This record gives sequence, C-alpha cells and structure tokens, in this order.
Amino acid sequence: MVANKNFHLTVKSPGRINLIGEHIDYNGGHVLPAAIDLNITIRFKKREGRVCHVSSKAKDDFKFNIYEPLKPKPNNHWANYVLGVINGILKLRPQQLSAFDCEIESDLPMGSGISSSAALECGITFGLNSLFNLNLSKLEQIKIAQKAENDFVGTKCGIMDQFAVIMGEEKKVILLNCETLKYELLDANIDPYKIVLLNTNVEHKLASSEYNNRRKVCEIAMEMIKSKYPHYHQLAQVPLKVIETLENELQESVLRRATFVAEEEKRTIDASIVLQNGDITKFGELMYASHEGLSNKYDVSCPELDFLVDYSKKHNSVVGSRMMGGGFGGCTINLIHKDYIQYYIELITKAYEDQFDLELSCIETEISKGVSIVR
Ligand code: GLA
Repeated sequence: MVANKNFHLTVKSPGRINLIGEHIDYNGGHVLPAAIDLNITIRFKKREGRVCHVSSKAKDDFKFNIYEPLKPKPNNHWANYVLGVINGILKLRPQQLSAFDCEIESDLPMGSGISSSAALECGITFGLNSLFNLNLSKLEQIKIAQKAENDFVGTKCGIMDQFAVIMGEEKKVILLNCETLKYELLDANIDPYKIVLLNTNVEHKLASSEYNNRRKVCEIAMEMIKSKYPHYHQLAQVPLKVIETLENELQESVLRRATFVAEEEKRTIDASIVLQNGDITKFGELMYASHEGLSNKYDVSCPELDFLVDYSKKHNSVVGSRMMGGGFGGCTINLIHKDYIQYYIELITKAYEDQFDLELSCIETEISKGVSIVR
C-alpha cells in the first residue's frame, strides 16, 4: 500500500438504504432510497506508463493496461466493478484516461443489500471524472455505473442504487420516478425513530441469478399486458385492477409477481405522502406490507429475514421493518424508537442466534450525502 500523502484525490462513496419501493426500479415505478453514512473510501493518483494498479484492503490487488480493450474477468472477479466503469467512461470519453493507481478501503459490509457494489462503481466513476477533468454529468455517471453492473458484473440491476449513491443528500430521501428519472428530495421525518439495519449475515449464492430471473418474469408479464392494453409501457404503471383481469392469461407465479409490483408501487406513493405528513405509524404499516409482498408474492425473502421482521412485530419500539435490496439474505431495515435501540438489539441478537446459530450484525445509520471528494 502506498502512503496516503502520495495520493492526489480521495473520494468517499456511500452505501444506500431504501425505505420502500423494492424491485420497482427496473419496472419503471417509484422508489424511496437515500445515501447513508457508511462509505467506501477510494484514493487515486495518476502514474506514468500504461498499467493501472488497483489495491484493496479486503480483496486481491489487480492490474490492467488502460490502453488495451477491457473485458470482464471470469469467476465474478471483483475487478469487474472497476473495469466495467472504466470501459463505460472510455466509450463516452475516448482516450481521455491515462494510467492511475487507486486504493480502496471500505466500511460497508459486502453482500448485505446496502449496495457496496454501487458505492464502488460510483466512487470510481466520480473519482476518475474529477482526476481527469472529464466533465461527465451526474446522470452520465449514474448510467455508466449501472451499465458496468449490467454488462461487466452480469446483474441486470435497475438504476436506484447508483442514483442514490450519486444524488443522495443529508437528511433527505429521494422519491425517484425510475422511468423519467425525475425526483424529489423529501425530508426524512422519522423522529423519534432511527434507522437500524440488521444484517442476517446470510448471502444467498443464487441472489444474482434469481434477481435476473425476476426481471425476466416481469418482462413476460409486460409483454402479455401490452398485447391487451398497448398504452402501458412499464409494469409498475399497470394498476392492480388491470392485472386482475389477466388472471386466466398469466401463469400463477407471473400473476403473483405482477400483483406485487402494482401493490408495491402504490405503497411507495402512499408512503411518500404519509412521510411528508409525519405519520410514521402508517409509514411503518406500509413497510410491513412491503415485506409481506416481497416474501409471499415476489418470493425474494428467506427464513432469516422473515424471522427478523416477525420478531419486530412483537415490539412496540419498532414501528416498521422489512427486508431491503435484492433479497435472499442481507439486511432488514428497521425504524426503532431512539430510546430503545440498545435494548431491542440485545433481545433480537440473542433470539436470532438461538434460532439460526448465526451472528446478527446491527448497524445504526443516518441518512447522509452522496459521493463526494474529501481532499
Ligand atoms: C438491487 C438492485 C436495485 C434494485 C434492488 C431491489 O439492489 O441493484 O437496482 O432493483 O435490488 O429493489
């Protein structure tokens, strides 16, 4: 590792939460994410020659030639997050990069649904944009980062994570329309509750393939809907009553997925209204309903996530809880009364360990600003 003083630029790139609106971004609906106060720190420095060195405290270092065509590495190598964005930058700004070093350090747990992947992609894009004066707009950076994940990593993710990481602001949640990319910053009116993430420490091996599979099923549902109702273009725009008319045409599991999408879209809009009215009890109810749909209709939960959400229902200090992100493991997001956080964490940690013989990690987090330069 090279000492900090040799680096020319340091970037902090945050993880993200999503209060509600899960598996909705790639269906063209509304989501309610925010950036948080856990970050990946990336230090950059230009160097002579052709070879770039990328080092990380947690993973193996790698090198590549910036003047040769870039291809994804096999076996889900983590380098693909970095190579993917560089490939995207070079398409928009050909020949404007030269060799550089970068060092990566993270306090974001990986595979926990807090989007360490978007933090890395966006941090690299944002840092190189500044180091090489590329003049990429924020939206261009968001799209480069998303495309890297789609094409180099192979997860056909939507735009929510990268959008939140780049556009996040302190104490604000982002009500994002994922079709038009128009957004509003809403006050996160959740006092006296705080956001606590409970990490199951379960990472499902099939998360990426199941994710792509859900996306495919939504496309199938959409094709059928369009054949009868050609004016709909995005699944999240199709109202529940229209989906109900397709009961005999759609396969049972496809119908359940489409029903979830219609209901979750409505919940997200409702949630954004009750949040602005300060009705945190109603907001919490919508979070529980979201989990119920993710678990029973969209089938992306797992026993560990379900246990954590069910457990919270017995405790008045928790106003809302649900799985967050792609699913199959990772975290639940919980709104817990600030006076009872420690007490509740002790109880649930013990109950979780007794049930699964697994450690539970608890992260109390604040909504914070998006990717930024530290020096
Ligand atoms: C992952 C993806 C996002 C989004 C969520 C589910 O985090 O990267 O695009 O689809 O899952 O809401």
